Amino acid sequence: MSKQSPFKYSANDLYNWLTTDPNFILLDVRNEKDFANFAVEGPVCIPYINIPYFDFIEDVPGSVAKVPKGKKVRIVCAKEGSSKFVGEQLVENGFEDVGYLEKGIKGWGNMLTPVQINGGDDSFELHQMIRPGKASLSYMLISNGEAAVFDPSRNIPVYKEFAQERGAKLVRSFETHRQADYISGSVELSRNHAVETIGRDEDFRGADFPYTAATDGEIFKIGKVQVKVIHSPGHTLGSICLLINNKYLISGDTIFIQSAGRPDLGGKCREWSRYLYLSLMITIRDLPDDLLVLPGHYTSWDEANDELKFVDTLGNLKNYNNAFQYVHEGKFAEFIEENMRPQPEVYANIRKMNAGWMEACEDEQDTMDLGKNECGASNYGKVGVSAESERQG
Ligand SMILES: [Fe+2]
Repeated sequence: MSKQSPFKYSANDLYNWLTTDPNFILLDVRNEKDFANFAVEGPVCIPYINIPYFDFIEDVPGSVAKVPKGKKVRIVCAKEGSSKFVGEQLVENGFEDVGYLEKGIKGWGNMLTPVQINGGDDSFELHQMIRPGKASLSYMLISNGEAAVFDPSRNIPVYKEFAQERGAKLVRSFETHRQADYISGSVELSRNHAVETIGRDEDFRGADFPYTAATDGEIFKIGKVQVKVIHSPGHTLGSICLLINNKYLISGDTIFIQSAGRPDLGGKCREWSRYLYLSLMITIRDLPDDLLVLPGHYTSWDEANDELKFVDTLGNLKNYNNAFQYVHEGKFAEFIEENMRPQPEVYANIRKMNAGWMEACEDEQDTMDLGKNECGASNYGKVGVSAESERQG
């Protein structure tokens, strides 16, 4: 009987298995450092082991012997090639159900998976586009033949096709702030897809792409839906939240489910902590408790609800979100300062990319864009990829 070859699976396949049938071993063949810095994270934990590709090169039998037998094996590497090779070695040695990840960890890093937030009486659609590889959340709003995206990643085809499938044209892109942790799709959407980008001057003044400056309280229309701008400085000076039909609050990096966005990224921690504190304790706290808050990031899947959506009422957040629990601004600033840590070096270049001041080829953008976000005030993820994994392929 001829042996089966290892098969190629997509990042979306991996997410679907993790959420519906997590019955496999995940074998990561990147080097130990890259594995430690950034790994696949899903809503459930599965057996996930690391045996570097170079171990397989040096000692195939010894490395194969480390892989538990009798289970499906799904392999991850930096780009695709190494895991295909390792998959072939496993199949040669009697493993039967072996897959390797299309485009490697970068495929996982860029993948978006949509979940619809609303239903019921709403005459529009609102979808949360979860990016598990970055722990980031963008959104799509569809109404009456028009679509808007909020904080898009650079995976533009997904957003455009998503709108098209619903008979809508992507007309606007809202930026809750100039992102530091991932490359935004808005520059490309604005330059080459005739999509109007909306953002605040404090964050985008001088940007090298067309954008519309948003003012506090301004209302934009997408189809029949109202999107109201609420200025909420702190994470950045130009941070905004976007209130959709007085019911949903896209909160960017101002407030997450369990914490708030870090205010130290601009290098003026004390000053911006105060802005953030006032945005949270006045601007956000004054909004109605029944608003559904839709954040720009999460830190862990513990923040998702039973339907694996990152959403809760503002009333609940006021009760349990750490950011609302400080007796005065001094305690809040102390917490921020105690939790400060250096931001990844790549953030400086990502900021430039997101103002249109820097160009990079696709491969460079993939590398810059890889890794879990570090935007939360209590988020200790690590970002980066080593040159070694670049060479591995
Ligand atoms: Fe951010």
